[in-house]
Amino acid sequence: MKIKTIHQDLKVYSSIDELEAYERDLISKAISFLDLSYAPYSKFHVATALLLENDEVISGANQENASYPLCLCAERVALHHAAMRHPGVKIKLMALTARNEDRTDLGPIPPCGACRQVIAEYQEILDCKIRILMKGDQPEILELSSIEQVLPLGFNSDFLQSS
Ligand code: THU
Repeated sequence: MKIKTIHQDLKVYSSIDELEAYERDLISKAISFLDLSYAPYSKFHVATALLLENDEVISGANQENASYPLCLCAERVALHHAAMRHPGVKIKLMALTARNEDRTDLGPIPPCGACRQVIAEYQEILDCKIRILMKGDQPEILELSSIEQVLPLGFNSDFLQSS
């Protein structure tokens, strides 16, 4: 037996002022997309802005349903939106934000497990690493250089190939 160690260094910015202008701009756009969230059940609003390689910005916000399991996360709405509007265009950066109607002190919001899996597949399809910036109510911003940082040992299409 041997131990396999998984180690990740994540970047944490103490405020938005440490980011470049285009990164601040994408976070502002994500915050504005919170208005597109439909979250009457959880009252937890999530929004995503994707910056594509062709400089287009794509929106996504969570869309809930009275049949709770049908709720769609902001990240997947945005990724599928990008795939429809700009098929095959690489995604340079994802900004992710959230607002909880019942509190005002949220830290950075990481993608849920299901979205991590979907982001991983888009990285594979588009042959790119998707950098992710996360910001809640607090000034602190968390960055992932790619989704593998929070989805180590992920399942992917390689396993489905025949030998
Ligand atoms: N949600 C997202 O949109 N993205 C995530 O990564 C986590 C959760 C949404 C789903 C649901 O509408 C609400 O947040 C509460 O779980």
